[in-house]
Amino acid sequence: MQLERILLFFAKYIESELGIVYADHNYFQLQNRLEEIAKLLSVESIEKLFTQAEAGITGPFKQLLLDLATNNETSFFRDPRVFKAIENVVIPNFLQNEPQGTQLRIWSGASSTGQEALSLAMLISEWNLKTLKNIPFSILGTDISERILLRAQKADYSQLEVQRGLPTPYLVKYFQKNDQDRWIANSTLTSHIQFKKQNLLAPFAFSQKFHLILLRNVLIYQALPSKIEILRRVTDMLAPGGVLILGSGESLLGLSSDYHQTAHEGAVIYLKKEFHQSAA
Ligand SMILES: C[S@@+](CC[C@H](N)C(=O)[O-])C[C@H]1O[C@@H](n2cnc3c(N)ncnc32)[C@H](O)[C@@H]1O
Repeated sequence: MQLERILLFFAKYIESELGIVYADHNYFQLQNRLEEIAKLLSVESIEKLFTQAEAGITGPFKQLLLDLATNNETSFFRDPRVFKAIENVVIPNFLQNEPQGTQLRIWSGASSTGQEALSLAMLISEWNLKTLKNIPFSILGTDISERILLRAQKADYSQLEVQRGLPTPYLVKYFQKNDQDRWIANSTLTSHIQFKKQNLLAPFAFSQKFHLILLRNVLIYQALPSKIEILRRVTDMLAPGGVLILGSGESLLGLSSDYHQTAHEGAVIYLKKEFHQSAA
């Protein structure tokens, strides 16, 4: 079978499972990843992998395919303007809108290896110390990739990873170095965070709504109908007056009219409109 047809087959499979679209010009990347999977599964060639796929994509094969199809790039305090806006706008808004003692619930959708969730935990911990307000908070991190979620749950980072965005005083205060030279986040942070597997294309089964949802650098890989559908269901998971934040290169333009857009020192935040039409 022609290589192109095999690549098309896998590209379609990935799109149906994850919503991630491989443009033709990225097929070389898909080919590299399939070669990697073939090696990991001790399968001779992409052609043999395809024969196996025709019999059904299940178990480790499926997980590997989904893992390798995703881009897990992330870092601590990625786009610091966003964290400033959370500190200066989102938290004060939350305190104004919610009865005292309400738990601030945050969802880091597409949380990758957990740096975003940990950055939020550090930000709120510092805010609590500074203001003596002691806001109770919880952070849910979700991702499709089991391999990535395992890493997030371990909250264990290399020297290189902590050098990306994490201020040294926070590293010293919130992380411990283990004997393998890995930095492990303290339970003062991790006790506020839970990581779970969640495909954004699958129905959500969260028991409570969130005050803040970060959906950064994930919609960018989705086809237009998936973006609209994910946003519709994400909006339903936001509490009234809740805030949605996307990646710095992403926008809601043409995707949703359920938000008021505001900018704060270069960070864009989306405030859920009061009379959002709930999805049927
Ligand atoms: C580029 S990372 C972004 C991480 C973080 N939000 C940030 O901005 O630094 C994108 C993440 O989205 C996850 N992802 C891709 N498609 C997904 C889907 N359909 N459902 C859930 N997570 C998905 C990937 O596994 C990856 O970890």
